[in-house]
Amino acid sequence: MPRPSILIARAIFPEVVDKLAAHFDVEANQADEIWPREQLIQRLQGKQGVFTTGGERIDAALLAQCPGLKICANMAVGFNNFDLPAMTAAGVLATNAPGVLTETTADMGFALLMAAARRVTEAEHYLRAGRWDRWPCDMMIGQDVHGSTLGIVGMGRIGQAIARRGALGFGMQVLYHNRSRLPEAEEQAVGARYAGLDELLRTADHVVLVVPYTPEAHHMIGAAQIALMKPTATLVNIGRGGLIDEDALAQALRAGRIAAAGLDVFEGEPKVNPALLACTNVVLTPHIASATVPTRKAMAHLAADNLIGYLAQGRPLTPLNPEVMGEA
Ligand code: DGY
Repeated sequence: MPRPSILIARAIFPEVVDKLAAHFDVEANQADEIWPREQLIQRLQGKQGVFTTGGERIDAALLAQCPGLKICANMAVGFNNFDLPAMTAAGVLATNAPGVLTETTADMGFALLMAAARRVTEAEHYLRAGRWDRWPCDMMIGQDVHGSTLGIVGMGRIGQAIARRGALGFGMQVLYHNRSRLPEAEEQAVGARYAGLDELLRTADHVVLVVPYTPEAHHMIGAAQIALMKPTATLVNIGRGGLIDEDALAQALRAGRIAAAGLDVFEGEPKVNPALLACTNVVLTPHIASATVPTRKAMAHLAADNLIGYLAQGRPLTPLNPEVMGEA
Protein backbone atom coordinates (compact mmCIF):
# COMPACT_ATOMS: atom_id res chain seq x y z
CA MET A 1 0.00 0.00 0.00
CA PRO A 2 1.48 3.41 -0.94
CA ARG A 3 1.73 5.88 1.91
CA PRO A 4 -0.98 8.54 1.92
CA SER A 5 0.10 12.02 0.81
CA ILE A 6 -0.75 15.12 2.77
CA LEU A 7 -0.31 18.86 2.43
CA ILE A 8 0.58 21.11 5.37
CA ALA A 9 -0.82 24.41 4.17
CA ARG A 10 1.09 26.74 6.51
CA ALA A 11 4.39 26.61 8.38
CA ILE A 12 4.13 24.58 11.57
CA PHE A 13 6.50 23.35 14.29
CA PRO A 14 9.25 21.17 12.72
CA GLU A 15 8.59 18.42 15.29
CA VAL A 16 5.03 18.16 13.97
CA VAL A 17 6.22 17.98 10.35
CA ASP A 18 8.58 15.14 11.42
CA LYS A 19 5.77 13.36 13.22
CA LEU A 20 3.58 13.50 10.10
CA ALA A 21 6.47 12.48 7.84
CA ALA A 22 6.75 9.22 9.79
CA HIS A 23 3.32 8.26 8.40
CA PHE A 24 2.82 10.19 5.17
CA ASP A 25 4.48 11.67 2.11
CA VAL A 26 4.41 15.28 3.19
CA GLU A 27 4.45 18.53 1.23
CA ALA A 28 4.99 21.24 3.83
CA ASN A 29 4.77 25.00 3.39
CA GLN A 30 7.60 25.77 5.82
CA ALA A 31 8.29 29.03 3.97
CA ASP A 32 4.80 30.05 5.18
CA GLU A 33 3.76 31.42 1.82
CA ILE A 34 0.18 32.63 1.56
CA TRP A 35 -0.99 30.55 -1.36
CA PRO A 36 -3.77 31.91 -3.55
CA ARG A 37 -6.71 29.52 -3.64
CA GLU A 38 -5.82 28.20 -7.12
CA GLN A 39 -2.38 27.26 -5.86
CA LEU A 40 -3.83 25.53 -2.82
CA ILE A 41 -6.11 23.51 -5.12
CA GLN A 42 -3.22 22.65 -7.38
CA ARG A 43 -1.08 21.51 -4.44
CA LEU A 44 -3.95 19.40 -3.11
CA GLN A 45 -3.96 17.24 -6.25
CA GLY A 46 -3.05 13.68 -5.29
CA LYS A 47 -3.30 14.47 -1.57
CA GLN A 48 -5.56 12.58 0.81
CA GLY A 49 -5.19 14.95 3.74
CA VAL A 50 -4.58 18.60 4.45
CA PHE A 51 -3.39 20.31 7.64
CA THR A 52 -5.06 23.74 7.78
CA THR A 53 -4.65 26.55 10.30
CA GLY A 54 -8.01 28.25 9.88
CA GLY A 55 -7.45 30.66 7.01
CA GLU A 56 -7.96 28.18 4.17
CA ARG A 57 -11.51 28.10 2.83
CA ILE A 58 -12.63 24.52 2.21
CA ASP A 59 -15.91 24.54 0.32
CA ALA A 60 -17.85 22.68 -2.38
CA ALA A 61 -15.98 24.38 -5.24
CA LEU A 62 -12.59 23.40 -3.83
CA LEU A 63 -13.71 19.88 -2.97
CA ALA A 64 -15.04 19.34 -6.49
CA GLN A 65 -11.53 19.96 -7.78
CA CYS A 66 -9.82 17.77 -5.17
CA PRO A 67 -11.61 14.43 -5.49
CA GLY A 68 -8.89 12.47 -3.66
CA LEU A 69 -9.15 14.50 -0.46
CA LYS A 70 -10.38 12.55 2.57
CA ILE A 71 -9.66 14.76 5.58
CA CYS A 72 -9.05 18.41 6.46
CA ALA A 73 -7.56 18.85 9.93
CA ASN A 74 -7.83 22.37 11.35
CA MET A 75 -5.28 23.53 13.90
CA ALA A 76 -7.98 25.67 15.54
CA VAL A 77 -11.10 25.08 17.56
CA GLY A 78 -13.02 27.44 15.26
CA PHE A 79 -13.85 25.99 11.86
CA ASN A 80 -15.67 28.78 10.06
CA ASN A 81 -13.22 28.23 7.19
CA PHE A 82 -14.93 24.88 6.60
CA ASP A 83 -18.23 24.52 4.77
CA LEU A 84 -19.15 21.53 6.90
CA PRO A 85 -22.28 20.44 4.98
CA ALA A 86 -20.29 20.56 1.70
CA MET A 87 -17.50 18.50 3.27
CA THR A 88 -19.98 15.96 4.59
CA ALA A 89 -21.70 15.77 1.19
CA ALA A 90 -18.30 15.15 -0.42
CA GLY A 91 -17.44 12.48 2.17
CA VAL A 92 -14.51 14.54 3.48
CA LEU A 93 -13.84 14.37 7.21
CA ALA A 94 -13.37 17.66 9.08
CA THR A 95 -11.55 17.84 12.40
CA ASN A 96 -10.79 20.77 14.70
CA ALA A 97 -8.64 21.21 17.81
CA PRO A 98 -10.92 21.68 20.81
CA GLY A 99 -10.04 21.47 24.50
CA VAL A 100 -6.31 22.04 24.32
CA LEU A 101 -6.58 25.84 24.07
CA THR A 102 -9.41 26.50 26.53
CA GLU A 103 -7.52 27.92 29.51
CA THR A 104 -4.94 29.80 27.43
CA THR A 105 -7.67 31.50 25.40
CA ALA A 106 -9.66 32.32 28.54
CA ASP A 107 -6.51 33.94 29.99
CA MET A 108 -6.28 36.18 26.93
CA GLY A 109 -9.94 37.10 27.16
CA PHE A 110 -9.23 38.31 30.65
CA ALA A 111 -6.02 40.05 29.60
CA LEU A 112 -7.94 42.05 26.98
CA LEU A 113 -10.72 42.80 29.41
CA MET A 114 -8.30 44.14 32.01
CA ALA A 115 -6.19 46.01 29.47
CA ALA A 116 -9.27 47.69 27.99
CA ALA A 117 -10.99 48.48 31.29
CA ARG A 118 -7.77 49.78 32.91
CA ARG A 119 -6.52 51.50 29.73
CA VAL A 120 -3.20 49.63 29.85
CA THR A 121 -2.05 50.05 26.25
CA GLU A 122 -3.35 53.60 26.00
CA ALA A 123 -1.41 54.46 29.17
CA GLU A 124 1.73 52.82 27.84
CA HIS A 125 1.54 54.79 24.58
CA TYR A 126 1.07 57.98 26.64
CA LEU A 127 4.15 57.19 28.71
CA ARG A 128 6.33 56.18 25.73
CA ALA A 129 5.32 59.36 23.93
CA GLY A 130 6.90 61.33 26.79
CA ARG A 131 3.58 62.88 27.80
CA TRP A 132 3.78 61.80 31.48
CA ASP A 133 5.08 64.87 33.31
CA ARG A 134 2.89 64.98 36.44
CA TRP A 135 0.37 62.85 38.31
CA PRO A 136 -3.12 64.26 37.81
CA CYS A 137 -5.63 62.43 39.99
CA ASP A 138 -7.74 61.54 36.94
CA MET A 139 -4.86 60.43 34.69
CA MET A 140 -5.89 57.33 32.70
CA ILE A 141 -8.68 56.48 35.09
CA GLY A 142 -10.70 53.52 33.92
CA GLN A 143 -13.20 51.00 35.21
CA ASP A 144 -12.95 48.38 37.93
CA VAL A 145 -12.90 44.73 36.98
CA HIS A 146 -13.14 43.14 40.44
CA GLY A 147 -16.64 43.07 41.85
CA SER A 148 -18.22 44.21 38.58
CA THR A 149 -20.70 42.38 36.34
CA LEU A 150 -19.28 40.24 33.57
CA GLY A 151 -21.41 39.26 30.58
CA ILE A 152 -20.22 36.29 28.53
CA VAL A 153 -21.79 35.68 25.14
CA GLY A 154 -21.10 32.06 24.15
CA MET A 155 -20.83 29.58 26.99
CA GLY A 156 -18.82 26.70 25.58
CA ARG A 157 -15.59 25.51 27.17
CA ILE A 158 -13.82 28.87 26.83
CA GLY A 159 -16.82 30.89 28.02
CA GLN A 160 -17.04 28.68 31.11
CA ALA A 161 -13.32 29.09 31.79
CA ILE A 162 -13.76 32.88 31.63
CA ALA A 163 -16.77 32.64 33.95
CA ARG A 164 -14.70 30.74 36.53
CA ARG A 165 -11.97 33.38 36.39
CA GLY A 166 -14.52 36.15 36.86
CA ALA A 167 -16.54 34.54 39.64
CA LEU A 168 -13.76 32.90 41.62
CA GLY A 169 -10.81 35.18 40.94
CA PHE A 170 -12.38 38.60 40.67
CA GLY A 171 -15.60 38.30 42.69
CA MET A 172 -17.68 39.25 39.64
CA GLN A 173 -21.36 38.62 39.09
CA VAL A 174 -21.40 36.58 35.91
CA LEU A 175 -24.20 36.61 33.34
CA TYR A 176 -24.07 34.50 30.23
CA HIS A 177 -25.98 34.18 27.01
CA ASN A 178 -25.85 31.07 24.87
CA ARG A 179 -27.94 29.30 22.24
CA SER A 180 -28.87 26.74 24.87
CA ARG A 181 -28.94 27.17 28.61
CA LEU A 182 -26.49 25.12 30.70
CA PRO A 183 -27.87 22.59 33.17
CA GLU A 184 -28.33 24.22 36.59
CA ALA A 185 -25.47 22.26 38.16
CA GLU A 186 -23.07 23.52 35.47
CA GLU A 187 -24.27 27.09 35.93
CA GLN A 188 -23.55 26.78 39.63
CA ALA A 189 -20.15 25.18 39.02
CA VAL A 190 -18.99 28.20 36.98
CA GLY A 191 -20.96 30.75 39.04
CA ALA A 192 -22.99 32.13 36.13
CA ARG A 193 -26.63 33.11 35.57
CA TYR A 194 -28.39 32.85 32.19
CA ALA A 195 -29.68 36.09 30.65
CA GLY A 196 -31.21 37.17 27.36
CA LEU A 197 -28.75 39.02 25.13
CA ASP A 198 -30.42 42.41 25.62
CA GLU A 199 -30.50 42.01 29.40
CA LEU A 200 -26.86 40.97 29.42
CA LEU A 201 -25.81 43.95 27.30
CA ARG A 202 -27.78 46.37 29.49
CA THR A 203 -26.49 44.95 32.78
CA ALA A 204 -22.88 43.93 32.23
CA ASP A 205 -19.94 46.20 32.96
CA HIS A 206 -17.75 44.06 30.74
CA VAL A 207 -18.95 41.96 27.82
CA VAL A 208 -16.84 39.15 26.34
CA LEU A 209 -17.78 37.49 23.03
CA VAL A 210 -16.70 33.86 22.61
CA VAL A 211 -19.33 32.77 20.10
CA PRO A 212 -18.38 30.55 17.15
CA TYR A 213 -18.88 32.44 13.89
CA THR A 214 -21.79 31.32 11.74
CA PRO A 215 -23.74 33.30 9.13
CA GLU A 216 -26.54 33.72 11.73
CA ALA A 217 -24.06 35.29 14.17
CA HIS A 218 -22.78 37.80 11.57
CA HIS A 219 -22.70 41.29 13.15
CA MET A 220 -24.67 40.10 16.16
CA ILE A 221 -23.21 43.15 17.90
CA GLY A 222 -24.05 46.26 15.88
CA ALA A 223 -25.13 49.82 16.64
CA ALA A 224 -28.45 48.71 18.16
CA GLN A 225 -26.78 46.28 20.56
CA ILE A 226 -24.00 48.70 21.50
CA ALA A 227 -26.69 51.29 22.26
CA LEU A 228 -27.96 49.00 25.02
CA MET A 229 -24.58 48.89 26.78
CA LYS A 230 -23.52 51.12 29.66
CA PRO A 231 -21.39 54.14 28.66
CA THR A 232 -18.76 52.79 31.07
CA ALA A 233 -18.81 49.30 29.56
CA THR A 234 -16.03 47.44 27.77
CA LEU A 235 -16.50 44.98 24.92
CA VAL A 236 -14.03 42.15 24.28
CA ASN A 237 -14.03 39.86 21.24
CA ILE A 238 -12.01 36.64 21.17
CA GLY A 239 -14.50 34.76 18.95
CA ARG A 240 -14.34 35.86 15.33
CA GLY A 241 -14.22 39.32 13.81
CA GLY A 242 -17.48 38.95 11.90
CA LEU A 243 -19.46 38.90 15.16
CA ILE A 244 -19.13 42.68 15.45
CA ASP A 245 -20.06 45.46 13.04
CA GLU A 246 -16.64 47.11 13.29
CA ASP A 247 -17.74 50.43 11.77
CA ALA A 248 -20.48 50.71 14.38
CA LEU A 249 -18.04 49.81 17.15
CA ALA A 250 -15.46 52.35 15.99
CA GLN A 251 -18.14 55.02 15.89
CA ALA A 252 -19.29 54.10 19.41
CA LEU A 253 -15.72 54.16 20.73
CA ARG A 254 -15.04 57.53 19.11
CA ALA A 255 -18.23 58.99 20.53
CA GLY A 256 -17.55 57.55 24.00
CA ARG A 257 -20.78 55.58 23.68
CA ILE A 258 -18.94 52.75 25.46
CA ALA A 259 -15.69 53.17 27.35
CA ALA A 260 -13.35 50.74 25.63
CA ALA A 261 -12.91 47.53 23.67
CA GLY A 262 -10.38 44.73 23.41
CA LEU A 263 -10.24 42.87 20.10
CA ASP A 264 -8.15 39.86 19.13
CA VAL A 265 -10.09 39.01 15.96
CA PHE A 266 -11.13 41.11 12.97
CA GLU A 267 -13.54 40.77 10.11
CA GLY A 268 -10.94 41.19 7.36
CA GLU A 269 -7.90 39.94 9.26
CA PRO A 270 -4.99 40.28 8.90
CA LYS A 271 -6.25 43.66 7.67
CA VAL A 272 -7.68 45.81 10.45
CA ASN A 273 -10.45 48.33 9.90
CA PRO A 274 -8.72 51.77 9.77
CA ALA A 275 -11.54 53.26 11.82
CA LEU A 276 -10.56 50.96 14.69
CA LEU A 277 -6.87 51.73 14.28
CA ALA A 278 -7.74 55.40 14.72
CA CYS A 279 -9.40 54.83 18.12
CA THR A 280 -7.24 55.14 21.23
CA ASN A 281 -9.67 53.35 23.54
CA VAL A 282 -9.36 49.94 21.91
CA VAL A 283 -6.73 47.31 22.63
CA LEU A 284 -5.86 45.44 19.42
CA THR A 285 -3.99 42.11 19.21
CA PRO A 286 -3.35 39.96 16.10
CA HIS A 287 -5.44 36.83 16.81
CA ILE A 288 -3.11 35.54 19.53
CA ALA A 289 -5.57 34.30 22.15
CA SER A 290 -4.23 30.75 21.93
CA ALA A 291 -0.62 31.82 21.38
CA THR A 292 1.48 30.24 24.11
CA VAL A 293 4.19 27.72 23.30
CA PRO A 294 2.54 24.70 24.99
CA THR A 295 -0.91 25.50 23.64
CA ARG A 296 0.08 26.17 20.03
CA LYS A 297 2.12 22.95 20.10
CA ALA A 298 -0.79 21.03 21.60
CA MET A 299 -3.09 22.38 18.87
CA ALA A 300 -0.63 21.38 16.13
CA HIS A 301 -0.13 17.92 17.61
CA LEU A 302 -3.88 17.40 17.87
CA ALA A 303 -4.38 18.34 14.21
CA ALA A 304 -1.53 15.98 13.26
CA ASP A 305 -2.97 13.20 15.43
CA ASN A 306 -6.30 13.62 13.64
CA LEU A 307 -4.59 13.11 10.26
CA ILE A 308 -2.66 10.10 11.54
CA GLY A 309 -5.69 8.76 13.40
CA TYR A 310 -7.89 8.87 10.31
CA LEU A 311 -5.59 8.15 7.36
CA ALA A 312 -3.23 5.70 9.07
CA GLN A 313 -5.35 4.15 11.83
CA GLY A 314 -8.97 4.77 10.78
CA ARG A 315 -9.93 6.73 13.92
CA PRO A 316 -9.60 10.50 14.26
CA LEU A 317 -9.66 12.08 17.71
CA THR A 318 -11.94 15.08 17.25
CA PRO A 319 -14.13 14.67 14.15
CA LEU A 320 -16.71 17.35 13.35
CA ASN A 321 -18.72 15.26 10.90
CA PRO A 322 -18.32 11.65 12.09
CA GLU A 323 -21.19 10.70 9.79
CA VAL A 324 -18.72 10.52 6.89
CA MET A 325 -17.19 7.53 8.70
CA GLY A 326 -20.61 5.91 8.91
CA GLU A 327 -21.06 7.15 12.51
CA ALA A 328 -23.69 9.51 13.85
C1 DGY B 1 -9.14 28.97 17.26
O1 DGY B 1 -8.60 27.93 17.65
O2 DGY B 1 -10.24 28.98 16.71
C2 DGY B 1 -8.38 30.21 17.48
O3 DGY B 1 -9.11 31.34 17.16
C3 DGY B 1 -7.12 30.17 16.65
O4 DGY B 1 -7.49 30.18 15.30
